[in-house]
Amino acid sequence: MPRKIIIDTDPGQDDAVAILLALASPEELDVIGIVAVAGNVGLHHNANNARKIVELAGRRNIPVYAGCARPMRRALVTAEHVHGDTGLNGPDLPEPTIPLQPQHGVDYLIETLMNAEAGSITLCTLGPLTNIAMALVKEPRIAERIAEIVMMGGAYFEVGNITPAAEFNIFVDPEAADVVLRCGAPITMLPLDVTHQIQSTPERLRAILELGNEAGKAVHAMLTFSESFDLQKYGWSGAPLHDPTVIAYLLKPELFEGRHCNVTIETASELTMGMSVADYWHVTGKVRNATFMRNGDADGFFALLLERLARLP
Ligand code: BDR
Ligand code: CA
Repeated sequence: MPRKIIIDTDPGQDDAVAILLALASPEELDVIGIVAVAGNVGLHHNANNARKIVELAGRRNIPVYAGCARPMRRALVTAEHVHGDTGLNGPDLPEPTIPLQPQHGVDYLIETLMNAEAGSITLCTLGPLTNIAMALVKEPRIAERIAEIVMMGGAYFEVGNITPAAEFNIFVDPEAADVVLRCGAPITMLPLDVTHQIQSTPERLRAILELGNEAGKAVHAMLTFSESFDLQKYGWSGAPLHDPTVIAYLLKPELFEGRHCNVTIETASELTMGMSVADYWHVTGKVRNATFMRNGDADGFFALLLERLARLP
């Protein structure tokens, strides 16, 4: 039986690749819904982009919801400088025709988790954690019903990408990340420590283009656009591919390696706001609330991605 997942996301080119990877893997994953959140760009664009991706994959039946338009306590910080003004610059995708669901994304999360068998739904988070935290605040009983939260977020050994100390998804809404990390549900984090190892080099991008299908062409155009900022920033031969590691972890956990430890989010210091402090060496007695991944197998990841993208239209 495929694992039921809800994807909470701010697409985003790398979010788009994650969604495509999930939709291309129906034997293992049943994507029951997608919820947009404000992050890379504003909520309106993110919700629009999520629907474009679902249509690109030929899966018009997947319901897309809009969640929160801003973080819990702060003004929204966006990343148009990486993702472009629409959040999904690069490919020329048609405007979506499937409707946005009328229900608020936070209410969808609560209703779905409360009505499903406990432990049957996994939340995959690819953006700021606002929607999940708001759902936990509104209905705390969902915490014990979540099978697992698998998130792209945080950084420890690699530290920050939006500030010297913080990773973007956590920095945008640190209070939300704090609520989620304290909620008690099983959590797996794919931080920059992993995603900086998963680089879309020119050879890997070419292989995606050479698949020849619409999805491959779109992914090539997306990543070619979004990596230009990162290539300059890091000076590497490929840009990190963040969010698809969440889906790859669900499909092939053996590609990743890390530790179950305490992870606490900084919410007070201006200098290190949004830092994910991982007690990787267990130097405190703090509760071990997350599995914090540190390494990923890039060749294994790209082989999986290529094989799955080839299945799409
Ligand atoms: C994260 O920030 C976003 O820009 C990406 O989509 C990814 O989720 C990486 O820090
Ligand atoms: Ca994202």
